[in-house]
Amino acid sequence: MANSNVQIFDTTLRDGEQVPGCKLNTEQKLIIAKQLDNLGVDIIEAGFPVSSPGDFKSVQEISKIVKNATVCGLSRSVKNDIKIAAEALQYAKRPRIHTGIGTSDSHIKFKFKTTQEDVLERAFAAVKYAKSFVEDVEFYAEDAGRTDNEYLARVCEAAIKAGATVLNIPDTTGYCLPSEYGAKMKYLKEHVKGIENVILSCHCHNDLGLATANSIEGVINGARQIECTINGIGERAGNTALEEVVMILKQHPYLNLDTNIETSMLYGISQLVSDHMGIYTQPNKAIVGANAFAHSSGIHQDGVIKHRETYEIIDPKDVGVTESAIVLTARSGRAALAYRAKNVGYELTKLQLDEVYINFLNFADKKKEINDTDIHQIIETSKVYRQIASA
Ligand code: KIV
Ligand code: ZN
Repeated sequence: MANSNVQIFDTTLRDGEQVPGCKLNTEQKLIIAKQLDNLGVDIIEAGFPVSSPGDFKSVQEISKIVKNATVCGLSRSVKNDIKIAAEALQYAKRPRIHTGIGTSDSHIKFKFKTTQEDVLERAFAAVKYAKSFVEDVEFYAEDAGRTDNEYLARVCEAAIKAGATVLNIPDTTGYCLPSEYGAKMKYLKEHVKGIENVILSCHCHNDLGLATANSIEGVINGARQIECTINGIGERAGNTALEEVVMILKQHPYLNLDTNIETSMLYGISQLVSDHMGIYTQPNKAIVGANAFAHSSGIHQDGVIKHRETYEIIDPKDVGVTESAIVLTARSGRAALAYRAKNVGYELTKLQLDEVYINFLNFADKKKEINDTDIHQIIETSKVYRQIASA
């Protein structure tokens, strides 16, 4: 049976940190790297060592403290980049050099102003050189999403011949449809000599909101590594969100694909990254947004109070959220009010609830959300308060 384990390659500290204004210092990167290691990610891409002395130092320090994960450093297909990446990774228990080159027509023609054959040779040489420093070398074919499959297969074959252990197929511009991205993985599986000896990796950007869907389609079609970031942060519209792909695989066990992630840490690490990077997580963000387990309409609240699974497909505790939230607004019904009133100490009879509910609606029409203090005030100013207080 095919290997069902999907490796999680976290690039929060490299692709994620490329977000404008999100620069982290070494100390912050160490805090996050430690938590990523505890979370159970298989690979931490710690940075791009040649890019600055600060990034070099971060990769070096992260290499010293990470206990379980492979630590990876990015480079271009340039000798000096690769040499510096190897130096930065010298203390890592499990070092990996991630090297590569653009393979789409647009990269070859406009960025490198060269030919397909030249790029093929550069790819081979880069992997070969990286191999002289470390055993584990991942090759990326930048803009693979818009690269012709036949040529991409030739580049992949060259990288394998040079010793690559992992082939990264980035949809750098977030252009592919899930069906196209899945078909690309399938094509490579079927046409690249030696592919059975390496891991295929998905690296998807979210320009069309398809990064998560594309990564899932990638693993369904044979990839066994997903490159992703906490909260989906990254260049432009971001990268694949780690928490999304991990929970999709967990909630769909029939796919027979699993990860090593301790999912109960997801919410905590999401907050940690958001705090350090100063990037606020949108409230409706899947899995870790403030509203991911909040219910505010009367029909939904009634359902969740009776049986959580009527409107929730994930137990909030599985991702580290203590409980589902019943949010009181003017759209809430009696069931939600009774539930929240009980939580702050009032057990209301049906008749009392009818009375208090009238008062509640008057309040709720004036205020966006009713908090616990408001509930006390609503009950204390309702006609039946004396009766409730003396019960
Ligand atoms: O999006 C991309 O192509 C990348 C590569 C450098 C791996 O981030
Ligand atoms: Zn990227």
